[in-house]
Amino acid sequence: MPLSIAVLVSGSGSNLQAIIDRIEAGVLDARIGLVLSNRPEAFGLERARKHDIPALALPHTDYPDREAFDAAMIRAIRQAGAEAVILAGFMRMLTPGFLAAFSGRVLNIHPALLPSFAGTHGARDAADYGVKIAGCTVHFVDEIMDHGPVVIQAAVPALAGDDGDALAGRILALEHRIYPQAIHWLAQGRLSVQGRKVHLAPTGVPLADVTLGSLVSPPLEQGF
Ligand code: GRF
Repeated sequence: MPLSIAVLVSGSGSNLQAIIDRIEAGVLDARIGLVLSNRPEAFGLERARKHDIPALALPHTDYPDREAFDAAMIRAIRQAGAEAVILAGFMRMLTPGFLAAFSGRVLNIHPALLPSFAGTHGARDAADYGVKIAGCTVHFVDEIMDHGPVVIQAAVPALAGDDGDALAGRILALEHRIYPQAIHWLAQGRLSVQGRKVHLAPTGVPLADVTLGSLVSPPLEQGF
């Protein structure tokens, strides 16, 4: 049985779409048991419904505090039978109780090369800073924002004339490549964490025969 994941979104859900597309292409070996949003108007919920994936809105404003909201999310995720949690533009911090419920099975994607430019506007902050190389990071989630052990990173050059939006767009296209890959590794049970280091168990599967005009580490496998 493929790993069942819950994808948490607050907005557009383009990363969710990339995950759905790689699953439907038969490349990413996982299934989405639930798409959950704290914002009922999130377009990510719409994307899920279009693909007959259970979609649930739990407005955080309906709950007295973070603990109560997270407890409701834990219940919904467990009811859906999902075993891992994928944050895809989910704009809420998770409580220690939530992380304990899915210990070692919560991933996030961030539009910057962590530990640089943590926070809500990673790509824009990098552009404003004037970096020459930008990128994105998939990491395990711990109790500190944008902080847990790094699974995969991809780097792209910042081009002359790039504003925050242009750079964010090119980073987002890379996010759509590396997030399904990282989830595939998680689903295959190939990721182990020791301290800050994430080890990827090798399998000898062929690597992707593409160059993205970027540096991706570890390298993408065929199909991602
Ligand atoms: C992405 O840039 C992601 O890195 C960040 O939030 C954004 C979500 O975009 N955490 P989308 O909703 O997946 O389109």
